[in-house]
Amino acid sequence: MKRLFALMLLCFFAATGKAQQPANRPDSAYIFAYSPEKGNSRTGLAFAWSNDGYSWHPIGPEHYFVYSDYGTWGAQKRMLKPFLYAGDAGTWHLVWSLNANENVFAHAASTDLVYWGRQSYPQTPAGSNVIEPVISSSNGKYAVTWQSNTSTNQVFSLATDFKTFPTAQKVSAGQHLNKRTEAMILGQRQTGTAHKVAFSLVEGLLNAQKNAQHQLALLAESAATDAQRFNGLKPIDVVLTPVPGRSKKISDLLIGAFFEDINYAADGGLYAELVQNRDFEYHTADKKYQDKNWNHQTAWRVGLGNLSIDSVSPIHPNNPHYAVLNDDLGNPVLINEGFGGIAVKAGEQYDCSAFVRIPSGKAGQITWRLSDKKGNTLGAASTKVPAGTSWKKLSAVITANATVADASLELVAGQKGSIHFDMVSLFPQKTFKNRKNGLRADLAQALADMKPKFLRFPGGCVAHGDGIANIYRWKTTIGPLEARKPMRNLWNYHQTTGLGYYEYFQFCEDMGAEPLPVLAAGVPCQNSSDGGAGQQCGIPMADMDEYVQDILDLIEWANGDAKTTHWGRIRAASGHPKSFNLKYIGIGNEDLITDIFEERFTMIFNAIKKKHPEIKVVGTSGPFYEGTDYVEGWGIARKLGVDLIDEHYYVSPGWFIHNQDYYDKYDRNGSKVYLGEYASHLPGRPNNLETALSEALHLNNLERNGDVVAMTSYAPLFAKEGATQWNPDLIYFNNTEVKLTPGYYVQHLYGNTPGDEYIPGDLQYSSNDAGLIKRVSTSIVKNTKTKELIVRAVNLLPVNTNIRLNLDGVSGNQKAQKTVLTGNPTDRKAKPVTGEIQLKANTPEILPPYSLTVWRIRL
Ligand code: AHR
Repeated sequence: MKRLFALMLLCFFAATGKAQQPANRPDSAYIFAYSPEKGNSRTGLAFAWSNDGYSWHPIGPEHYFVYSDYGTWGAQKRMLKPFLYAGDAGTWHLVWSLNANENVFAHAASTDLVYWGRQSYPQTPAGSNVIEPVISSSNGKYAVTWQSNTSTNQVFSLATDFKTFPTAQKVSAGQHLNKRTEAMILGQRQTGTAHKVAFSLVEGLLNAQKNAQHQLALLAESAATDAQRFNGLKPIDVVLTPVPGRSKKISDLLIGAFFEDINYAADGGLYAELVQNRDFEYHTADKKYQDKNWNHQTAWRVGLGNLSIDSVSPIHPNNPHYAVLNDDLGNPVLINEGFGGIAVKAGEQYDCSAFVRIPSGKAGQITWRLSDKKGNTLGAASTKVPAGTSWKKLSAVITANATVADASLELVAGQKGSIHFDMVSLFPQKTFKNRKNGLRADLAQALADMKPKFLRFPGGCVAHGDGIANIYRWKTTIGPLEARKPMRNLWNYHQTTGLGYYEYFQFCEDMGAEPLPVLAAGVPCQNSSDGGAGQQCGIPMADMDEYVQDILDLIEWANGDAKTTHWGRIRAASGHPKSFNLKYIGIGNEDLITDIFEERFTMIFNAIKKKHPEIKVVGTSGPFYEGTDYVEGWGIARKLGVDLIDEHYYVSPGWFIHNQDYYDKYDRNGSKVYLGEYASHLPGRPNNLETALSEALHLNNLERNGDVVAMTSYAPLFAKEGATQWNPDLIYFNNTEVKLTPGYYVQHLYGNTPGDEYIPGDLQYSSNDAGLIKRVSTSIVKNTKTKELIVRAVNLLPVNTNIRLNLDGVSGNQKAQKTVLTGNPTDRKAKPVTGEIQLKANTPEILPPYSLTVWRIRL
C-alpha cells in the first residue's frame, strides 16, 4: 500500500511537473546538457544537475530525454555536440550536429526539457558541414553559427525563428563563440552546456527519469518470474456482476487483420504462384545486404543449354527482363525450383502459362513438366508455339500424379536453338474461392476463419517504402500481370505485385471484410533515405498534385460507376463491375511527424475530404504509444478532424498488464483509434501462451473502450519458415503446412465472438493485492445481431481463479458454449478447447492458471 501511494505521488509529480516542493529545496540549481560519445550507437540528450555548478549528478545513469531521429536505422541516429539554449517565452532550443560529412544539422524545442517536439533537419550550403553548432540571440532574433570542417576555418551562420531556416551565410571567424563547457560526470569528462535554472525544472527531470525507470521495471515483468512473484499463492475468488444499465455501443469492426508482404507473406506465401522469379526481374539491388545468389536467374537453372538474360523488345517496359535459352545441339530445358521447392498434390490440376518467343520465327513446341528430385515425371503437358517472332502467351493444364513437397517445373523446348521465356507461371486451380491468379487456399482460409472485419494492405513499411521511388503505387499493381511493375521489397527481397490491389479487394470481398488500403502520406519510411545518411524525404511538392490525384483515383477505381467513370470502367474491365464499396483509407504508416509530413498529409486529407466526404480517413501517430510522433500525430488529427488515427506499438506483456487504462484516458469526442499494429513481445520474440494471453488482456480493455477504439489489427500476420525477418507473427507456414499460434487463437476467438454493445461488470476480488487484481480481467459484450452474450475472462495468475458469473440480470439461459485456451506460459502450441456446458447458479466456474475463457450464451 505504501509502495502504491509512493507510486501515485511519483506519477502525479511526473505528469504535472509542479510537485509541491518541501521548504528545504533551493530556488535554483544548475543543469548540464550533453550527449555522451557512443561510437555508432544511437544517442540523445542527457542531463546532469548540480547545486554549485561543479559537482554534477547524472540524471540517469543512461537516460536520454530526446533521441536524434535523423538517418536510416543502424547508420546514424546519433546526437553529436548538442547545444541547449534558453530561448524566449520559456522555450528551450536544442541544435546538434549529425555527422562529419553532410551539410545538415538538427533542431528540436521543449518547454520543460522532458517533452520534445518534432525535429527539423535544415540543409546548409555545400561545404558548410555543421560541427558544433551554437545558438545565440539578439533583439529577439536567433542565429545558429558553426565552423565547417569541410571548408577549413569557414564560419557559417543563419538567422532563424526555428520554423524556417534560410540559407546560411559565411561570416567572420570571430562570430563563432563556442560556449560549450566541460563537466565531470560519472568519471568521464563531458562537453556540453551549463544553465542555471529553477529547481523545479531539475525536479521535473529527476521525476521523469525515475518514472521512466519505474516503468521499465513494470514492463519487464513476465511469467518467467511469476514463481517468485506469486510464491505460495492460493487460488483466488472473484464475482462478476454485469451492470446492464451502463452498457454502451461499441465498434463492430474491432477485430481486423493486417497484411504486409514481409516474411514472404505474398510471393511464396499467400499468393498461390508456385514459380519463383517468374518474371526474371529479381535484381541484385533488391537486397540491401548483398547476396551473390540473388539476380535475374535466382530460382532458375538449365537442364540443357545456356541461359542468359536479355531486355531487348520485352513483353512490357514494366517487366523488361526475360530468359534466353539456347542450345544448338539438343532441345534446351529451363527449370524453376519454386520457393524452396514446388508443392503439388496428387490428382490436383495446375495451370501453366508463359510468354514464349522463338527468335527464328519458326513454329515450335514446349512441354511443361513437373518432376520430383529423382527426375520422375509428376505430370506434363505440351503446347505448340505458333510461327512468328512476337511474344505469345501459351498455357496448359497439368494434373499431378503424386503428392510431392519439393517438385520442380521444367520447360522443355521441342526443338534446338534459341527460345525466349517470360512470365512463367504455375498455379494450383484450387485457390481460395477458386479465383484465377488467386490465393493459397489453406493460408487464405486460416485468415478468413479469424473473421476479420477489415483487412489492411499493403503494409506496414511496404506501403510507404524505402525511399520515394519505393513507395507502393497502387496503379502499377492492377491489370495484366505482365504489365504490372515488380519492385524491390524493403524487407530485402522482391515483390511481383501479382497479389496487387485487385486481388486484395477481391479477397476482402470473398472474406466479407472491409478493405482498408494504406497509402503513403507523400513520405517514405522514416528510416529510409533518398541518398546519404538520409532523412525522411518527401515527394517533391511539384509532384504532389499528381500523387494526390492517384489517391483520388483509387477511390474512383474502387467505388466509381462501371459505365460513367474512367477508373470504374477499368475496374469493370478487370472483371468487377460492382463497386468494391471502399469506406476507409489510411494515409501514412507510423511516419516521422515532421513539417514535411504535415504539409503532404494535410494536402491529401483535404483533397479526399473535398471530393469524397463519405470516405473515412485514417491518419498516423508514429511507431510508439507515446513520444513526439505520437503527440504530434494526434495534434494534426485534432487540428484537421481526422476520422481515425492509426497507432502502433510492439510491447512486453508487462506493458499490457500495467497499461490497462491506456484508452480510458482518451477523449470520447475526438478522432477514433485504429490500433493498426500491435503485438506482445518477449525476449527471443516467441508467439507463446504468455504473449497471447497478454494480448487477450488488452483486447478486454479495448472492448471496454470500444466507443473510442474502432479497429485493431495484430501485426505482422504471416511468416514463412526459413524466410522470417520479423517475429512473432500470427500464422507461420511452409510450402505444405499452416501453423497457427496461440496469438492466432486469441484473435480467432475474439473475431468469432464480436460484440456491438459493451456491458460493464463489477468484478469483486477476494484479494486487494493490485498485482493479483491486474492479472484477472473480464469483458462482457452483447452481439445484438446474433442475440448472444459473450463473457470473457483472462487469468494471468499461476493458480486457478474461481469466478462466479452473476448473469441473472442479463441472461436467463444457463447453457453456454465454453472455450478455454490454457497451458504453460512458454507453450507455443496451445490450442483452445470448446464444449457445451450448463452454468450453475452459485457454482463458480474455474479459470485455469494462465488461461483465456470465453462463454457464449444465446439470449
Ligand atoms: O509489422 C512489421 C513492421 O512494423 C511494419 O512494416 C511497420 O509498420 C512496423 O514497424
